[in-house]
Amino acid sequence: MNDIGSAWSAKVTVKTEHADAFEQAFSGLAGVVSMYEANPDGFTWTVEGTFDEAPPRAELAERVALAASSLGVAEPDLEIAKIPVKDWLTESAMAFPPLRAGRFYIHGDHIQGPFPPGAIRILVNAATAFGSGHHASTMGCLLALDDLSHRRKTIRRGLDMGAGTAILAIGMAKAWRAPIVAADIDPVAVKVSRYNAARNGVTPLIHAVLSEGCGQREVTRGGPYDVITANILARPLAAMSADLAELLAPGGTLILAGFLRHHEQMVLAPYRMHGLRLVKRYRLAPWTTLVLGK
Ligand SMILES: C[S@@+](CC[C@H](N)C(=O)[O-])C[C@H]1O[C@@H](n2cnc3c(N)ncnc32)[C@H](O)[C@@H]1O
Repeated sequence: MNDIGSAWSAKVTVKTEHADAFEQAFSGLAGVVSMYEANPDGFTWTVEGTFDEAPPRAELAERVALAASSLGVAEPDLEIAKIPVKDWLTESAMAFPPLRAGRFYIHGDHIQGPFPPGAIRILVNAATAFGSGHHASTMGCLLALDDLSHRRKTIRRGLDMGAGTAILAIGMAKAWRAPIVAADIDPVAVKVSRYNAARNGVTPLIHAVLSEGCGQREVTRGGPYDVITANILARPLAAMSADLAELLAPGGTLILAGFLRHHEQMVLAPYRMHGLRLVKRYRLAPWTTLVLGK
């Protein structure tokens, strides 16, 4: 693997249910914040921020202390280290073997075939588990889309809220040959979505939009949607419940993911209040994917 420079990492390891709160301590300071299982038991998670330059230790320590005191837990060790930056393309090729989710077959450029006959292929080269399909919450959404596509043969249009690499938008476009709006708050994700749509030959079907939730008119104007996927985080999902419920067409399906099992009720309650009902649940421990109907 090529070493192409260096960067900095700052991380804490905390109980799974506290990871969201500690993530806030890094946001706005770190270039990228990631969270991953510290060990396979699923009980502890590492929250890691990466920085181009040495991170502001005092400010980070203060934020970590604040998060700990608001949760009423002991302050975790803040580990700061200089790290070699790997050639992530090579790394992701090794880290992300192809995977199946029902009829979907997700693979990077490093897989040249042969491909399973009859599979719906999604080509994505992702630097992180999110967007590559290897994260359990993306996997839950793909399984839910696969299941739905067997039962519902046509849709008029779909929305992928928090599209990231557009993996779900591409899956929908290919499964139903329908136009899909791929919205994301991150301009880089919007660019990547367009790029991936082209690589997958579905540019005419995917409209990538920069939008915070349903804030952008292109998102609201595109509705109502027969299928909506939103793999984000518990709090933003709860906050956008009124908008997503309204944008879902009668008889439509909303797939929600990106949260841990113990946040399920927090996400579900506002959607129920807006008239949606839970029709299916996938638990890929410790993550949950909820399928709601209108
Ligand atoms: C967990 S990733 C999911 C990516 C992809 N849909 C998947 O399933 O792998 C969440 C994405 O939601 C985006 N996001 C976070 N908050 C958002 C918001 N309020 N509105 C729109 N997008 C948001 C992030 O930028 C990120 O790309």
